[in-house]
Amino acid sequence: MIILGIETSCDETAAALVAETGDAARPWRLLSSVVASQVDIHREWGGVVPELSARQHIRDICGVVERALEEGSSSFDAVAVTAGPGLVGSLLVGISFAKSLAWSRSVPLVSVHHLAGHIESLVLEHGELDLPAIVLVVSGGHTSLYRIQQPGAYELLGRTRDDAAGEAYDKVAKLLGLGYPGGPIIDRLAAMGDDRAVPFPKPRLTHADRNAPALPGRRDFSFSGLKTSVLRHVATRRESLDLGQGDPLPDQEIKNICASFQRVVVETLIDRLFDAARWYGARSIGIAGGVSANSRLREDARDRAAVREYRLYVPSLALSTDNAAMIAAAGVRRYRAGQLASWDLNAEASMRL
Ligand code: KG4
Ligand code: ZN
Repeated sequence: MIILGIETSCDETAAALVAETGDAARPWRLLSSVVASQVDIHREWGGVVPELSARQHIRDICGVVERALEEGSSSFDAVAVTAGPGLVGSLLVGISFAKSLAWSRSVPLVSVHHLAGHIESLVLEHGELDLPAIVLVVSGGHTSLYRIQQPGAYELLGRTRDDAAGEAYDKVAKLLGLGYPGGPIIDRLAAMGDDRAVPFPKPRLTHADRNAPALPGRRDFSFSGLKTSVLRHVATRRESLDLGQGDPLPDQEIKNICASFQRVVVETLIDRLFDAARWYGARSIGIAGGVSANSRLREDARDRAAVREYRLYVPSLALSTDNAAMIAAAGVRRYRAGQLASWDLNAEASMRL
């Protein structure tokens, strides 16, 4: 069977075709994947503007789906589409398109949760995970930790209480005047900085949290305090250097701030991830979502996994940021589980997994 995936939850219009292989260990094969990024449109505003996003999806979706079909296969057996979470206006473009196409081709419609997509991108690339697995989905909109004991069953262990990690990257880059999206820029500058130069505090669990491992929220994250620490540090430094409004901080100082900020983010993510893996007796660890492209996160996770002897799954760069291959993959999983969507499928801004 071949499934067409469609993704429009944020600022990428994407379509992809995935085929079943018949091999239980490596169940899916990517036939084509097309992504039209809107990043150049939103860059000017320093973040994603929902209304502009929805309008651009409308302009791009026909061409993107056509190309995916041309490069992959003109026939397919089902259409999978992201129904949430995400920007409602943007999601609705993908959902309406998917419904029309599925209806006109007389094939079923499958609804996919965006984060299930990020998780299944690991399976698409590496085959079925060694279970039980702990997977961290870390992107511009999400920082969530899942336990997987059965393929396709995702148990939420913790998530961010405020900003997502990618959002913190984007906001810190903005306050340093570095541009958008901030993640890749900070990643690059951090490599040239001293990660101990600024002692930003690590977001901490309370004493009560530490002593009650099964408590809900025990494995939650919080990044808005760290962002505020960076903001305060920058304001203090600008004042001591007596900088004018448009003057940037010295180059090396910006690199040091990037490196110090990144060290705290990565250590926080890795600590929580490996702590959960040990607590739940996991055999493997996965990291997915846009921030999984981060070079330090990948490196530190690789080192820690090698020491603790976990299998580590990380997507290739093309599958780490938003794409439709992951939506098609998660769609095949749901299709095979008999979970088809009805024709009144609607967008859900804060859909639960
Ligand atoms: O998964 P994604 O494409 O979209 C969402 O679902 O949010 O993730 C985008 C996020 C942005 O916040 C971006 O700054 C971040 O991923 N990102 C990175 C890197 N590349 C992208 N963050 C840190 N380091 C990177 N190399
Ligand atoms: Zn995403």
